[in-house]
Parts: sequence; C-alpha cells; structure tokens
Amino acid sequence: MADYNVKDVGLADQGELLIEWAKAHMPVLSLIHERFEEERPLEGVKLGACLHATKETAVLVRTLEAGGAEVLLCGSNPLSTQDEVVAALATTGTKVFAWREQTTEEYYWCVNRVLDYGPVITMDDGADLVNTIHSSRADLIEGVKGGSEETTTGVIRLRAMEADGALRYPIIAVNDTDTKHMFDNRYGTGQSTIDGILRATAIMLAGKNFVVGGYGWCARGIADRASGMGANVIVTEVNPLRALEAVLDGFRVMPMAEAAKIGDIFVTSTGDINVVDGHHMAAMKDGAIMANSGHFNVEINLPALEEMSTGKRRLRPSLDEYTTKDGRRLYLLAEGRLVNLAAAEGHPSEVMDMSFADQSLVAEWIWGEEKMEPRVYEVPRRIDETVARLKLEGMGIEIDTLTERQVKYLTSWKEGTV
Ligand SMILES: NC(=O)c1ccc[n+]([C@@H]2O[C@H](COP(=O)([O-])OP(=O)(O)OC[C@H]3O[C@@H](n4cnc5c(N)ncnc54)[C@H](O)[C@@H]3O)[C@@H](O)[C@H]2O)c1
Repeated sequence: MADYNVKDVGLADQGELLIEWAKAHMPVLSLIHERFEEERPLEGVKLGACLHATKETAVLVRTLEAGGAEVLLCGSNPLSTQDEVVAALATTGTKVFAWREQTTEEYYWCVNRVLDYGPVITMDDGADLVNTIHSSRADLIEGVKGGSEETTTGVIRLRAMEADGALRYPIIAVNDTDTKHMFDNRYGTGQSTIDGILRATAIMLAGKNFVVGGYGWCARGIADRASGMGANVIVTEVNPLRALEAVLDGFRVMPMAEAAKIGDIFVTSTGDINVVDGHHMAAMKDGAIMANSGHFNVEINLPALEEMSTGKRRLRPSLDEYTTKDGRRLYLLAEGRLVNLAAAEGHPSEVMDMSFADQSLVAEWIWGEEKMEPRVYEVPRRIDETVARLKLEGMGIEIDTLTERQVKYLTSWKEGTV
C-alpha cells in the first residue's frame, strides 16, 4: 500500500505556499525547528499524529521531522483537512492519510493506517488514536511509550479512561498548559469561530442576538469576539461560577430554552451533548442559524433536527437549510462539526505557534523519560514558561524581572504592615 492517501498530490505547490505563510507567523516553533535540526532529539521515534491537518499542523510535522521523527499523520475531523497542505506533506515524504469530507468509515480507515506503522508516541486531538489503540489495536500498546492530547474533550475522555483503570500508557495533557488553553482555546477559537460563521453565511453580526452555549475557555473567546462585532451576546451555562463570570463580563445569561426563542445565531462550545436540543429548535425563530465549535458534532442534536425537518438544501459551502414540519427554516453550519475548522481554516498561526511548541517539547520530553506510569500527566511548568518566554521574545516584548529584594519579600512570611 502507498505511504500516503490524499485527495490530489497535484495541489502540493499551493500547499507549500500555505505552509510557508503559516511558518512565517510561528516564530517559537521555528526556533524549536532549528534546535531540533541540530540536536535530533526525536531520532528513532515513530510518531503517530491525529490532528486537524492544517497548514499550522504541517509546520509542526516538519519540526518533529527535523528532530528525527518519522511522522505518520491522519486528520482529527472528517471536515477539517486542508487538501493542499496534506498534498505538500505527502510530496516531501510524510506518511499522511487525510482528505477533506470523509465518511466515518474513511476517517477510521485513516486512523488505522497510521496505527499500522506501530507508533511509539501518539499525538491526539480528541483521543481517537488512543481510543482506537485501546479498543481494537491493543497489540500495539506494548510498543507505545506515551502520548499527548491537544484538546479539552480528549483530556476529558482520557481522564475517564484513567479513572476506569482502562488507560494503559501515559498521556500528557497538553491542552491543560496555560500556553495552550488560555490562548488557543480562547483567542484562537474566538476569532476563528467568527471567521467560520462569516465565511459560511456572510451575514452581519452587528445587532444580532448571538447565543453562546457555554462560558468555558473557548466560549468566552467566542462571546468576546462576537460582542466586539456588535452582536448582542447571550450566554447559557450549567456552571454557576462561569455563569456569574459571564454576567459580570456584561452578557445576558439565561437557560437555553429562553435563549432559543430570541436567538438569531447559536454557537456551542462546551464538550457536552445536546446543548441545543430538539425542544430548543422547536422554539427557534424562522431563519435561526446554528453552529458548533466544540470538538464533536453532538452539541447540536442533529438527529432531532433531521427528524423535525421535511427537507434540506445546501445553499452555500458549509450552509445547510432545513425546512421544519411547521414551515420554518433553520440553518446549520458545517454539518454541526467544528465551524472554525470546517468552514474556515482553524486558529490563526500565531496562536498555534504556542500549542504546537508545547506539543514538540512534550514529544521530546516523553521520548527522553525513562519510564512513566499509565496516567494522565500535567505538562511540566518549565515547558509552559519556556514557550511563553519565547513567544514574548518573538513578539519583541520585554518584561520586568524580580529584583533580589522582591524575591526575598515574596518568599518571606515575616514582612507585613509597616
Ligand atoms: N473549535 C476549536 O478549534 C476548539 C479548540 C479548543 C477546544 N475545543 C473544544 O471546545 C469544547 C470546549 O472546550 P473548553 O476548553 O472551552 O472547555 P471548558 O471546560 O473550559 O468549558 C466548557 C464549558 O461548557 C459548560 N457546559 C457544559 N455543558 C453545558 C450545557 N449543557 N450548557 C451550557 N454550558 C455547558 C461547562 O460548564 C464549561 O463552563 C471542547 O469540546 C474542546 O475540545 C474546540
């Protein structure tokens, strides 16, 4: 079998230009690339990656390859692969199995092709590699040294495996570093979700009732950016602290059942299921638009939408119109999959620079460790701080350093009111 499976290798030149553009905005990863080229810390590593196959991921793949790794790549969502980018990677020797618009069977075929090579490190966005290994390719576990996880939903799945005693190799929760979720989830998802909605619909956001499901890292970013575009943002939550935060940030907070009646646009990003359920859709106005920016396509109850509809038309790429039995039109973006990746290009390169710098340094750390127990680990603080420092340097921003007197003061319990 061929060592790659992409839509059209003829797109490689266009893909190279996209990768070049991304790399120019990823200074931290570029620095790591240079060091990896010299030190080759990943020599001998077969690294299986199940990540959104975007131009930024290509910059990561080439950084890992510069470090000596043999990278095996599949996409982490059936709609998020950038065909030009994977064509470029295939042409320069990466073993890549990904194309845009896959069926579920094709998606898992690609996951399994990556596993056929027997990776010693796995790098997931949503835990599908880990999950497939544990559920149907358990013979590979012995050979896996460790893995890393990029997103909140994946970390939730992996912690559930750990709690069940089912996790059989160590995983590093890259999502939980400050340099990942505080920036990628918030500013990345915030901007790119708006980008996806606008590319799919080209509507005006100003003056619209814009309902955000959740007020976690991602949803906060979405609410903030939608508000900046002049939308009237309404937040729904199940966590009282997060709901309170949304209120004090200036947003209206109410149950989804109330928001459903007045919303023009609905966006979910919770990691939960049926956040927009059938009874919510039954209450929506004619013309309401729904999108999801959480990991899986379960946040909007799609079977319920199909069930209540008499017909469906694709009006534009990533924009489907459903006609309900009571004659309303409801619109669904990107088939309910991550709208920022399926209808746009995912996060800006500048923010993936940090997430993928974390991933590179974590791969190096896993490979260099003697033996780790099968648990979900936090990323060492030194990696987070290195990435933040390099990012600031790359942006030409200097910060202060604690003086000796300040260190002494901050670590003493003897100094108080004077
Ligand atoms: N679109 C992207 O590119 C992208 C990037 C990063 C993460 N994600 C995904 O986005 C999702 C959210 O990630 P996060 O880091 O913001 O998680 P988070 O844990 O910070 O926030 C999730 C929030 O959703 C709330 N919530 C749960 N169920 C709810 C419900 N039924 N109604 C309303 N609110 C509910 C929780 O209380 C929590 O505040 C995850 O699936 C994650 O994997 C997507």
